[in-house]
Amino acid sequence: MPVTAVIGQQWGDEGKGKVVDLKSKTFEIAARATGGRNAGHTVNTGEKVYKLHLIPSGVFHPNKIGILGNGMVIELETLYKEIKFLKEIDNGSKIYVSGKAHVTMPWHKYSDSHGAGEKKIGTTKSGIGPTYQSKANRTEAIRIYDLKTKERFERKVKKVFGLKKGEFERIGFEKTYRDILDDLEYARKAIEPLVIDSTTYLLRELYNGTNILAEGAQGALLDYDHGTYPFVTSSNPTIGGICTGLGIPANSIENVIGIVKAYTTRVGFGPFPTELTNESNLNKEISLKSKLELTTEEEELIKNGTANDELMGKYLVVKGKEFGTTTGRVRRCGWLDLGLVKYTLAINGVNEIALTKLDVLDGLPKLKIGTNY
Ligand code: IMP
Repeated sequence: MPVTAVIGQQWGDEGKGKVVDLKSKTFEIAARATGGRNAGHTVNTGEKVYKLHLIPSGVFHPNKIGILGNGMVIELETLYKEIKFLKEIDNGSKIYVSGKAHVTMPWHKYSDSHGAGEKKIGTTKSGIGPTYQSKANRTEAIRIYDLKTKERFERKVKKVFGLKKGEFERIGFEKTYRDILDDLEYARKAIEPLVIDSTTYLLRELYNGTNILAEGAQGALLDYDHGTYPFVTSSNPTIGGICTGLGIPANSIENVIGIVKAYTTRVGFGPFPTELTNESNLNKEISLKSKLELTTEEEELIKNGTANDELMGKYLVVKGKEFGTTTGRVRRCGWLDLGLVKYTLAINGVNEIALTKLDVLDGLPKLKIGTNY
């Protein structure tokens, strides 16, 4: 059966979008299963550059159907903007959103920016952890189905305010439920017609033999269960997440393409055995972002093979343009770690590897690769 999954094998930002582009002729539906606005990809149409976080990048090819699956957490303002981008491009592609997906509400984002997650894990402050927390908690969650009428959405938001009043006071979240409803009405109205039961939709399409590309978000090492916990995201960006996040059976996935960057990057905190710019440099690097470039002297040291680790790390940031799409943070960089990749390939059952950004290493006299521990 015709599902191809594209899954990042490191800590995200492996260049999944490039492979989606290459595969665009072979599928009609591009579906995303997990995560939310923490993911980021840049689409360059030749005329304009779009920074996207939610909709699958496959829909930037003409006449595709894009599905935002039930496993996702969706911020309404971001989705609204992205739907507008797609309308601007007017390429015949359409977006549908699973009614079972969860909504990232303003309090989720607020709590992610003001809570421990951001400081201890270095989250993207997109409200991802708090939204999945609400999903697991069940009594205070808001799902995309709740956007179906203005009254239903109002009832839900009011109920959450009743339940979380104490918490909102404690964390200093000052908006009223009325503010939130007023702020979000434009987005609710625009998204409401796109809401479908995507599970039934995808199963029917599978039955009809339609080719589906499941676009993974983040990377396997950020997996909530299998990644470098607790320095992970709050979903399963591995193969299992594709099944649960779209409602498709495991044996419908015919092909698993693992995306491996020729070196390693990670954003946020957590272990990184082959790192060249160490974690303590992270904040310094962020403040350097705007003027991060290599001097002629540094270029010379790199060419001679006499650069130290820190300079090699800087080289990878600059040559690889390793800045986050969502936060603009400088990514931590290091050598390829095959020990980790071997592990993620096994977890995901990868049967094809796409090695990306090899050109960044072009011309280096000496390369290191982590082989085992
Ligand atoms: P959160 O997903 O915003 O909660 O962040 C948790 C961790 O996952 C942090 O280390 C983030 O930097 C990282 N992360 C989340 N999304 C991405 C992504 O798309 N690329 C790379 N790292 C990510």
